[in-house]
Amino acid sequence: MLSYQHAYHAGGPADVHKHIVLAELLARLTAKPRGLSYVETHAGRGLYDLAAPEVAKTGEAAAGIARLAADPATPFGRALAAVRRAHGATAYPGSPLVARALLRPQDRLTLIELHPAEHAALSGTLAAAGTAIHRRDGFEGVLALAPFTPRRGLVLVDPSYEVKSDYEATAAFVRRLVARWPEAAILVWYPILPAARHAALRDGLRPLPVAFDEAAFAVPPARGMTGSGLALVNGPFGSDKAFRAAHDQAAVLRPQVRR
Ligand SMILES: C[S@@+](CC[C@H](N)C(=O)[O-])C[C@H]1O[C@@H](n2cnc3c(N)ncnc32)[C@H](O)[C@@H]1O
Repeated sequence: MLSYQHAYHAGGPADVHKHIVLAELLARLTAKPRGLSYVETHAGRGLYDLAAPEVAKTGEAAAGIARLAADPATPFGRALAAVRRAHGATAYPGSPLVARALLRPQDRLTLIELHPAEHAALSGTLAAAGTAIHRRDGFEGVLALAPFTPRRGLVLVDPSYEVKSDYEATAAFVRRLVARWPEAAILVWYPILPAARHAALRDGLRPLPVAFDEAAFAVPPARGMTGSGLALVNGPFGSDKAFRAAHDQAAVLRPQVRR
């Protein structure tokens, strides 16, 4: 199913949660000079415009990034400022651009996006040396390509959870990926909905070394998602600080931490 479009949700509280933690993890992983493989299963288009009509329609960015005074001394603040310098004051970076802003020449990006228009936009924004962009299924593609070189790695798994079975399928994918590429840290985002389907994902990840961070939104939408969850498998030393940073930096998230 390809009906999901991230433009409606860009800059919302869930993006703020995911992107701050992602930026903090990347800052820690790039503190050492050795190269890193950064991989995304569901990349989206990479760059969003907060002045677009889709953004106004949901009001999610107004409840998210618009309420955050991003500190340029933090990794996420640094990435946001770099993207706005390049693309204008209403630009908002998707996860690939957050990563690109923080990665170094010795690092490699592999981005997978299945939707033809999103893939085309992503390719236009991020085509550069050191970045491979594929149009294929994210789980199939990453399992076919793993392990990546350099072997030190971070994988962001950010599906759109359009069907119920996506929660279990995501956990099964992560288990297979750990078996194929044990050196990789894996960050999985999931929505928290009244139906609590994410319980199946959490249960499916429990056999692995995993830490969870969940945030209820300070301004929840009238219907639908009430919070945002992240699961980090094989997290690098100090990962707990990455989780804490999101809650410290973003008043739009109320902590509800479970580990
Ligand atoms: C939640 S969005 C990604 C947002 C992005 N990671 C970010 O934070 O900026 C999910 C994306 O997955 C894409 N998608 C849906 N099914 C896919 C599949 N089977 N394989 C790869 N991408 C897929 C959608 O088109 C959408 O762009």
